[in-house]
Amino acid sequence: MTNEDVIRDLNAALAWEMRAEVLYGHYAAYVKGIHRLHLKPFFEGEAAESATHGRTVREQIVKLGGTATTDRDTAEIVHTTDYKVMLREAFETEKQAAASYKKILALPDLDSELHDAIEQISFMEKRSIEELTHLLE
Ligand SMILES: [Fe+2]
Repeated sequence: MTNEDVIRDLNAALAWEMRAEVLYGHYAAYVKGIHRLHLKPFFEGEAAESATHGRTVREQIVKLGGTATTDRDTAEIVHTTDYKVMLREAFETEKQAAASYKKILALPDLDSELHDAIEQISFMEKRSIEELTHLLE
């Protein structure tokens, strides 16, 4: 494993966090009806969490001497005002995020500080998946 491999995977995670931040911000703005009461703050919290994760990942890329991407992942952000579609899209987004961190954690000879930083984010992604699973029930 070279630094380039780690940087490539960190950049993929960063791009996905930037997409997640936009997705949640978008849904917080468009969620309608009675569910807006709960879901607007929920989506805003998730947007803030994505920004925090993005910041952590970016800092790790800088530490490795890499160039952090400024482009979000190109996967489509589905526009909708249907809160159930929003929750499903959020769930898929978190699953993808968790997978990208799992991939990084599986890299051999990962620096221990980097491993810890990514592991903490990974735990938070798992919590988000659990929460969204309950919201979708
Ligand atoms: Fe995240």
